[in-house]
Amino acid sequence: MEKVAVNLAYLLSASLFIFGLKGLSHPRTAVRGNMLGALGMLIAVVVTLLDKRIVDFSVIIAGLILGAIIGTFLALKVEMTAMPQLVAIFNGLGGGASTLVAGSALYESPSIDKLFLSASVASGIVGAVTFFGSMVAFGKLQGLINERPLRYPGEQVVKALFGLSALGLGAYLVASPENLGLYWLIVALSSVLGVLLTIAIGGADMPVVIALLNSYSGLAAAATGFVLQNNALIISGSLVGASGIILTNLMCKAMNRSLLNVLFGGFGEVAQTSEEDIYAGKVKATSPEEVALLLEGARRVVIVPGYGMAVAQAQYAVRDLYNLLESKSVEVEFAIHPVAGRMPGHMNVLLAEVDIPYEKMKELEEVNPTFEQTDVVIVIGANDVVNPLAQTDPKSPIAGMPVLEVWKAKTVVVIKRSLSPGFAGIPNPLFAMDNTLMLFADAKKAVQEIVNALKEG
Ligand code: TAP
Repeated sequence: MEKVAVNLAYLLSASLFIFGLKGLSHPRTAVRGNMLGALGMLIAVVVTLLDKRIVDFSVIIAGLILGAIIGTFLALKVEMTAMPQLVAIFNGLGGGASTLVAGSALYESPSIDKLFLSASVASGIVGAVTFFGSMVAFGKLQGLINERPLRYPGEQVVKALFGLSALGLGAYLVASPENLGLYWLIVALSSVLGVLLTIAIGGADMPVVIALLNSYSGLAAAATGFVLQNNALIISGSLVGASGIILTNLMCKAMNRSLLNVLFGGFGEVAQTSEEDIYAGKVKATSPEEVALLLEGARRVVIVPGYGMAVAQAQYAVRDLYNLLESKSVEVEFAIHPVAGRMPGHMNVLLAEVDIPYEKMKELEEVNPTFEQTDVVIVIGANDVVNPLAQTDPKSPIAGMPVLEVWKAKTVVVIKRSLSPGFAGIPNPLFAMDNTLMLFADAKKAVQEIVNALKEG
């Protein structure tokens, strides 16, 4: 293929990536955005295959078929609640592929100049950190590894030693590339660094880590783009890197943490306030019928969805409750915390799936001032995002995280199965407050029973 034609096609796919990203910024245009991005990637892959004068396509086709089967299987099988783990694997595989491609290019390439070597080293380091960091993140989210941050004396020094050794050896390899085997030593050091960086983070800070690893995978791909001198890879890698950093920043804001704090701070280790002190004798249980009565008399209701709604797949029952209340002229809004659930936008996606109007989903800053004028708040499988300890206990692992101030409403109904803690592993004084009623049940079943009681009432 002509070089000009190749670059024009890459320009087209890069434009499609950018329009795709723009589309992803709003739920209404997100599906179209996704399609545009996928089309851009298809064009880039096809053009790259045609451009490279490939002698034998058999291995490539076998890889495509295998990848398509695995991808289709995962897309159909993986539950929405397991999406963050899947994203962690995707990030990790992207990073691992970059490291391996840059490594093999080192041995294959006829000319080894400084730019090529620097890009290879960058790809090796960032890709290996991404792969191993993502595998640890996967293990934590999947519950295979202890989810608490692993902290030990001198950990920052140990991490610095691994990081600086990898960088130092990288600089040496760029200066004197006689021994290409050094590349794999650099990769090994970076792999340990990836494990050390992620194992030290846990609890409610995991969303930040996933977003950051996403960004790393993009940077590794961009570096590999320089190794292969492939403009499409440079552009798409940079876009992933940049959007990952923007998402990291948003997640840090949602947790009210600086990135340095997440990476090197000591958050998330110990629950400071004991459950016994908080709950003993103060928790009041309620029934679906009692909640229905409360709702009958309400003028304004706010629903707070959380991870438990996703686990229980309660969104359809929640839609029925919403429709019923609206038909009774009750004003209903949904309060969406930015880290509710287990992935960015998790609650928005579930509610959009059941056609809840977008204008009914209110963000934290918008909804918090309205709780005082709210008759009933129904918290459905949410916990950390409505925990007042974030404001009252400076030693709590979620201290400083902005939370939904649901306790300011007249009555709060919390639907969950027990008093078990949420993702951050800490008790929640909301459950023992005077104006809180606990409906201990599976979210879907409880909401269905409230709907039935309302219909009968
Ligand atoms: P969590 O604090 O994790 O609490 C979820 C609650 O749902 C649990 O306390 C659990 O209590 C309840 N639950 C589970 N299954 C249920 C079911 N079938 N029916 C009813 N309730 C059920 O959730 P959240 O308030 O949404 O907060 C999210 C947390 O996850 C934050 O700490 C956040 O930092 C973290 N996180 C978020 C993300 C992103 S990007 N959103 C990614 C990783 C981690 P029971 O067991 O008593 O029922």
